Amino acid sequence: MGAGPGDPNLLTIAALRAIESADVILFDELVSQDVLALANASANRVNVGKRGYKPSCKQAEINKEIIRWASDGLNVVRLKGGDPLIFGRGGEEIEACADAGIEVTIIPGVTSAQAAAARLSVSLTHRDHARRVQFITGHDRHGRMPADLNWGAIADPGATTVIYMPQRTLRELTAKAMELGLPSDTPAVAIANVTRPNEHVLMSTVGDIANDIESSSPGSPLLVMIGLVFGKART
Ligand SMILES: C[S@@+](CC[C@H](N)C(=O)[O-])C[C@H]1O[C@@H](n2cnc3c(N)ncnc32)[C@H](O)[C@@H]1O
Repeated sequence: MGAGPGDPNLLTIAALRAIESADVILFDELVSQDVLALANASANRVNVGKRGYKPSCKQAEINKEIIRWASDGLNVVRLKGGDPLIFGRGGEEIEACADAGIEVTIIPGVTSAQAAAARLSVSLTHRDHARRVQFITGHDRHGRMPADLNWGAIADPGATTVIYMPQRTLRELTAKAMELGLPSDTPAVAIANVTRPNEHVLMSTVGDIANDIESSSPGSPLLVMIGLVFGKART
């Protein structure tokens, strides 16, 4: 189920009802304390967060936890930051539950890209500037640049590109996009902790964004968005 980017006002009504009526909540690192605070005091809250390179729960263990609690007949909410089906490994958990004969209801959440677009008053698909929007990841399963990124698409000045998990590979990614023709003055924005009290927005360009992030440490989780649509972003 999607917990959204942090601000509990962005939960769907279905998500709020599910959180309030859960017996057990298995939550990720990205789920905000404000959202967790909506749970019933008697609900069992279990942090199954995956924390990048720090020790964390393996996906197989999380799948087992979900199945274990649900098999006891409890009302289990698997709460994930943003939308559970956008870079959230929701698909693997759905499959594990299906294999175990556990019924699943998916409740969508506001993904961080949508929240960031709203925060900046930017239409990701403004017809004067973008023909499409693409959500990409800066990490493969080993934390490296995915080997199979579509570089032609990333270097396309007519696209809006949202990079989830950008930190480790952003310098390489922007350098290659520019090498392939994306102008270095294309607007780029980094936004950390969108909709949270510690939100931080950094306006830049494709040519400068990696250095700007390094020098100003906006925080994490961090999203980077690139495209002409950000030329009129309101910070
Ligand atoms: C594993 S992905 C999960 C994405 C999530 N399912 C979603 O829909 O937003 C984690 C990445 O999402 C982005 N992210 C999630 N929440 C964020 C927030 N509140 N502010 C900025 N970026 C966020 C960051 O790029 C972070 O590294």
